[in-house]
Amino acid sequence: MKRTRLESETGNTHGRRGPSLPADALVIFGATGDLAHKMIFPALYAMARHGDLNVPVIGVAIEKWSLAQLRKRAQDSIRQAGKIADKEALDRLLSQLRYVDGDYNAPATFTALRQALGDARRPAHYLAIPPHLFATVIQGLGTTGLADQARVIVEKPFGSNLASARELNAIAQSVFPEDSIFRIDHYLGKEAIMNILYFRFANSFLEPIWNRNHVASVQITLAEDFGVKGRGAFYESAGCLRDVIQNHLFQIVALLAMDPPAYQGYGAVHSEKAKVFQAMRPLQPDDVVRGQYAGYRDEAGVAKDSDVETFCALRLFIDSWRWAGVPWYLRSGKCLAATAAEVVVALKPPPQKLFDDSVAGTNYLRFRISPNAAVALAARVKRAGKEFVGDQRELYLLEEQPGEDPPYQRLLSDAMAGNGALFTREDAVEAAWAAVDPVLETHHRAHPYQPGSWGPKQADALIAADGSWHNPAPTRKEKNENHATTA
Ligand code: BG6
Repeated sequence: MKRTRLESETGNTHGRRGPSLPADALVIFGATGDLAHKMIFPALYAMARHGDLNVPVIGVAIEKWSLAQLRKRAQDSIRQAGKIADKEALDRLLSQLRYVDGDYNAPATFTALRQALGDARRPAHYLAIPPHLFATVIQGLGTTGLADQARVIVEKPFGSNLASARELNAIAQSVFPEDSIFRIDHYLGKEAIMNILYFRFANSFLEPIWNRNHVASVQITLAEDFGVKGRGAFYESAGCLRDVIQNHLFQIVALLAMDPPAYQGYGAVHSEKAKVFQAMRPLQPDDVVRGQYAGYRDEAGVAKDSDVETFCALRLFIDSWRWAGVPWYLRSGKCLAATAAEVVVALKPPPQKLFDDSVAGTNYLRFRISPNAAVALAARVKRAGKEFVGDQRELYLLEEQPGEDPPYQRLLSDAMAGNGALFTREDAVEAAWAAVDPVLETHHRAHPYQPGSWGPKQADALIAADGSWHNPAPTRKEKNENHATTA
């Protein structure tokens, strides 16, 4: 049988299994919030356009709103995200919307939700709410019978350290079977990131060099040229390490570092990824450089003496047979010089320096994640002439990938269908927290840096033994496009 989609299956179900049929309603807790406005309504509209959303959509919030207000908010959100090309799909989505107002601690809210669900028996409950409310809502669903045959989709961050992640997992699993819990990391729904898995295991040339014998180091940068954008209060409780490194960047590490899955099924992928997190050497304070952009303390909701990091660079080791001794450098920050994400896997130099211009770090594989997906392989080639002198060139295997479905569209459709392939499993989440846990509270102070820079200079010292940071550079195509628009 030919298979183009890895099948869904999750590991530890504690003997219980969730529904096998797709969800027959979508409940959005936090429907009036920021995330719903920025990401969720546009994703629902896209799902409606593709015919993937033919069930009631029930917004729940504590805003004392009316259904008309929620509809208006949904419409505004979809308009802001882009042109409304399919008015019929929009109208259909708006007519599917229902609204329940109430406190998540009050049983009456869940009773009202039960009524709003009508005949639906297999709802998918999506928690787009502040993390401290996850447990309250999950327990509320459990005690009111709304978890039976249901699924729960939990936003990130899943926990704020190892202990709280374990606690949340225990609460979630006391109410839902593991195969009905969908922990979202929207990076897993990005084409460029799915392509890392595909590229690694659909090709045979990579595997012989994909290890400590040939790889000198790996760098991953997720840079943003904007600040916390009004999310100061959230950021104060998170910081860069919790906000994007322990989840988004670690997921990329896992896909790059994992061993080949033993069989064609997502259970195998989940297991291999979990092993990578388990092999991560727990971070120590000297492995981490924290930074804070000048002006952060003036943001709304931020303490005047805040030490929360808006930039974080770290050196990580994966103590496995494949990766022993290879440093992984991860870096992310707000208010940096560019908005881009990319991975550079640097290969070791040739064993002998036969040419004067051969330098370390010449061969690498670059996966550009955003703003455009690209995969490039760098190598040196000789210039014409008598001298043995050459240039480094990038061979593009992929230069752009238009037409990508937004990650939330993909992930919500998958969760409603019961496909857990692009979600994170309990053991992986906990192992990822275990790797960062020692430095969450014990760390060096954040160094100030100027907005528009590449972060504090101390980050350069962190990597110095293995070279320097590779700042994300536009692809050939992006350069040409920039040139065309500025000419
Ligand atoms: C979110 C973080 O999870 O990811 C944000 O909370 C960050 O702070 C965002 O900006 C980055 O996602 P993307 O898809 O824009 O790269």
